[in-house]
Amino acid sequence: MDVVKTRWYKDTFVYQIYPRSFYDSNGDGMGDIKGIIQKLDYLKELGIGAVWLSPCYKSPNADNGYDISDYRDIMDEFGTLEDWKEMVDGMHKRGIKLIMDLVVNHTSDEHEWFIKSRSSVDNPYRDYYIWRKGKGKGGKRPPNNWTSRFGGSAWEYDEATGEWYLHLFNKKQPDLNWDNPKVRKEVVDIVKYWLDLGCDGFRCDVINYIGKADGLPNGLHLPAMRGDEHFTCHEKMHGYLHQLNKDAFSKYDIMTVGEGPGVNIKEGLLMTAEDREELDTVFHFEHVESDMILRLIPKKRMNLPKLKKIFTRWQDAMRGKSWNSLYYENHDQFRSLGRFTGDYGQLRTEAAKMLAISIYFQQGTPYVYQGQEIGMTNYPFKDWEDFDDVLAKTVYGIVEKLPKVIQNYALKVMIKRARDHARTPMQWSSDTNAGFTKGATPWLSINPNYKQINVEQAMQDKDSIWHFYKKLIAYRKGNEIIKQGTYLESYPKHKDLYCYERGYNGEVLVVVCNFKNKEVDFTLPSHISFYTNKLIFHNYNYDRANLESMRLRPYEAMVFHLNAKD
Ligand code: NOJ
Repeated sequence: MDVVKTRWYKDTFVYQIYPRSFYDSNGDGMGDIKGIIQKLDYLKELGIGAVWLSPCYKSPNADNGYDISDYRDIMDEFGTLEDWKEMVDGMHKRGIKLIMDLVVNHTSDEHEWFIKSRSSVDNPYRDYYIWRKGKGKGGKRPPNNWTSRFGGSAWEYDEATGEWYLHLFNKKQPDLNWDNPKVRKEVVDIVKYWLDLGCDGFRCDVINYIGKADGLPNGLHLPAMRGDEHFTCHEKMHGYLHQLNKDAFSKYDIMTVGEGPGVNIKEGLLMTAEDREELDTVFHFEHVESDMILRLIPKKRMNLPKLKKIFTRWQDAMRGKSWNSLYYENHDQFRSLGRFTGDYGQLRTEAAKMLAISIYFQQGTPYVYQGQEIGMTNYPFKDWEDFDDVLAKTVYGIVEKLPKVIQNYALKVMIKRARDHARTPMQWSSDTNAGFTKGATPWLSINPNYKQINVEQAMQDKDSIWHFYKKLIAYRKGNEIIKQGTYLESYPKHKDLYCYERGYNGEVLVVVCNFKNKEVDFTLPSHISFYTNKLIFHNYNYDRANLESMRLRPYEAMVFHLNAKD
């Protein structure tokens, strides 16, 4: 009997597009919607079933579109609503669904609601946002000690009315007040607007921050994340999501995935369990924070047992109750090559394929971030002025007043983990500007390795990462073992190997990954016995005859299909 309730997103590979870096059709140095339209055949050929499009709405771009000034129209730099409609049509004709980014924890300070809200204390829109009087004499100190996720206080003083407003991100991203039913109704209307226009779901930006504790009490944590225990997955959030689901999501055949920084398994299940009717799935951060100190500072080395433990815990916990999201990369994370593999030297292709095998045979909806399918790498940033991201700029604004040693340390951290690593333009070919734009200077520098790493080259080379992804995406589609099968990890404490099995109706997939740039011995776990076995994925080009015991090459990874003996 099938254990998994059928919904289309359970069988769909999702490709994330960061529009300003994808493809520039008009030569202004910035990607746009017409650029996406020109690349739809590329996406179809790769075989993906849905696109998650980072925000393309009107925005002054304090945070590259995650600060929206009009939820019902398209950013000038990206095109028009007509272009958007053409893009959705083009996607649907090719069997590709569109997931839009729903950014409703905050708006832009240039949204008309906020302009009205800040105009006077008794404006009807005042209560759309979170305004408070300050502390101390004349109210010149912030109302509480919460800090912005980008650094510094989460409050901004507004001279006009002598009060402070809350912004958990940049000061140009004021937080909406979800306690106000009018705000919740506005969000329902925005959601329906896009669904009626033909979009197929939403990735809900920092949706687990929408409920703030009554009274906005001070936080206890270190300055960098202070206050988060009062707004990360607050119980009010569950009620708001349930209502949004009832009033909007549930009326359409769509998928929703909530971005959830700080979401643990308990909360992840509450947000996504099918019978609770909130969201379908969630992006937790535990694995992409497993190599971080205090969720912020990258460690020297990734700890494989820790990473595996997180994968296994989520696989076990969600099975039969909810549904996982499988990702290593997105526009906020530095690239996975190097990060989860250590120094890969000449073995970029092998390492990238190994990472793909390690995650995409798990249960859940798989995501690939633009450029990951050709093994794009981090950018060689050197100094503060190389960064574009508001996060890097905010950190610089804070440390520039501090002693040089702190500045240098912060720079070292930023060079390693800057969000800009993932945002450099897509490398389409070895032509000028990597074929990303025909005109002006690209909005962000192109990685100098584009002559070797680009789509054109990857599509010509049948052994490329790109072809490996294409094969894997095709294999995964409709595969009941991956969709429904049990998950069992072996050797959880092994420092170099990740080994797991998926089993369904007497068939088993055995996944073996050497995460290290060195040879490692492997023995098939003794509980596995089989009649037949077939090597179906391998990142090296030779056969593996004896799977009982083998010495794996650096980054060697493979998947065997077995007909099991019970
Ligand atoms: C999460 C988004 O992914 C990130 O890019 C953005 O800066 C914050 N939310 C604020 O919207």
